[in-house]
Order: sequence, then structure tokens, then C-alpha cells
Amino acid sequence: MDKSKLRQIANDEIYVSQRKYYQEIYNNETDTPWENAFDTEWLKKTLGTIGRRSGRWALEIGAGSGRGSMTLGKAGYHTVGIDYVFKPLVTATNRRGEKFRPLFVHADFFEYPFKSGVFDLALDWGVFHHIRRGDTDSYLETVKGTLKKEGRYLLGCFSEKFRHKGEKRRKRNWLIHHGHYDRFSTREELVKVLNPFFIIESITEDVGGFYLVHMTARRDQ
Ligand SMILES: C[S@@+](CC[C@H](N)C(=O)[O-])C[C@H]1O[C@@H](n2cnc3c(N)ncnc32)[C@H](O)[C@@H]1O
Repeated sequence: MDKSKLRQIANDEIYVSQRKYYQEIYNNETDTPWENAFDTEWLKKTLGTIGRRSGRWALEIGAGSGRGSMTLGKAGYHTVGIDYVFKPLVTATNRRGEKFRPLFVHADFFEYPFKSGVFDLALDWGVFHHIRRGDTDSYLETVKGTLKKEGRYLLGCFSEKFRHKGEKRRKRNWLIHHGHYDRFSTREELVKVLNPFFIIESITEDVGGFYLVHMTARRDQ
């Protein structure tokens, strides 16, 4: 990972504005718009196909209020959630159970604060699709860098069919609104972009316009 390049990305105008957008949403809304966006049943089912989970380590990138982290914790993973907005992490911490207690870290993923290669699995529900195409390889390299050899990457992201509430546009593959960037992918593009870093185990598109992708990190040559 090129730390100076990642820092440059983190400080880019669009991502600074994006972080403000999240801060405002978490400060002002009672329900965040993505609260029901990603399919927990898909996550549970996919985790069930992975094999041993107990004692393994999982990272939730952009943990928010910890929905994904709770599912990972329940499935047996030692779970760490990272988010650069503090407020939802308080909610996430308060909803931890007695049996599984995910750890939440307040930091920018692009300032990657962990050792490389320590996680067995990374979950990304809603970060990838806010990364500009030009920064995608750096992002995916960082995600892969978090993982042990052949670690899993579970991704939920916008398909080109996703529409925001009231949105009338017919076709677009990106959008900036409310100061943040959205990327909409076709299956073909997604496969092309992910393939150099990960082997795609499965890819499904749900009715809400989200792709749910299960991947294994490619071994380095
Ligand atoms: C669309 S929300 C999804 C939240 C959560 N995964 C869920 O499904 O409920 C994206 C989350 O990622 C966080 N986020 C976005 N970019 C990030 C970054 N570079 N580093 C850390 N957190 C980030 C935001 O603050 C926000 O909580």
C-alpha cells in the first residue's frame, strides 16, 4: 500500500465533502437512508458457506451503526468495524451483545490503521460505490491488503438499476449529489474491475438495485 497516495485520496475535495455528508446525516437523521439497503440474509447465508468462522477475524469497512458487524459477530468472527464518523460507532458500541463484542475504530479507511494481512474477511456494505473510478484500484488494493492469503471480501454496491428516491434519470454510471459521489456498475464492469484482485465466487443482483458479491483474494504471483 502506498500510504502517501492513500492519504492524498483521503484529502481529495470530493472525499472531504463526502465525509461531511455522512457527519450531517448521522447528526440530523433518525434513520439513515441505507438502514435497510443491504441484505442481512444474504450475508448470513454467505457466511454459512465459508467454513470455519470461530476465532477468525473480520473487518467491516464503513461500519456505521454496526449492522454488518453484529451479523459477523453472531456468526463467530472476532470483528473490528472501522468508520470515520464517530457518532454511529457509539450506537454500534451500545448495541453489542454479551456473547460477541465487536471492536469499533474511529478512522479513515484510506489512512489504514491496522497491520496488513490480518483479517480473514472484509465486509463492505456501501463504501466501494462511493469511490471514484480513478481511485478504485487503490481502494481494492487496500481492501486486499487487509486480508490474509485467500481471505474473503463481501461487497454490497449499487448496480446501474439503482435509483435514489424520486430520481428520474434514465441512464448514468455516476452522480454527485448532496456533496458525495455515487458509482453505478454493470455486472460486466464490476467483474472487470474486481477480477485483478479477487476471484469472484458469486455475484447476485437484488431487486433494490444492489450487487452482492462474494470474493476470495487472489494469491500474489
Ligand atoms: C452507506 S453507509 C453504510 C453503513 C453500514 N455499512 C450499513 O450498511 O449500515 C457508508 C458508511 O461508510 C463510512 N465511510 C465511508 N467512507 C469511509 C472511509 N474512507 N473510512 C471510514 N469510513 C467510511 C460512512 O461514514 C458510513 O458510515
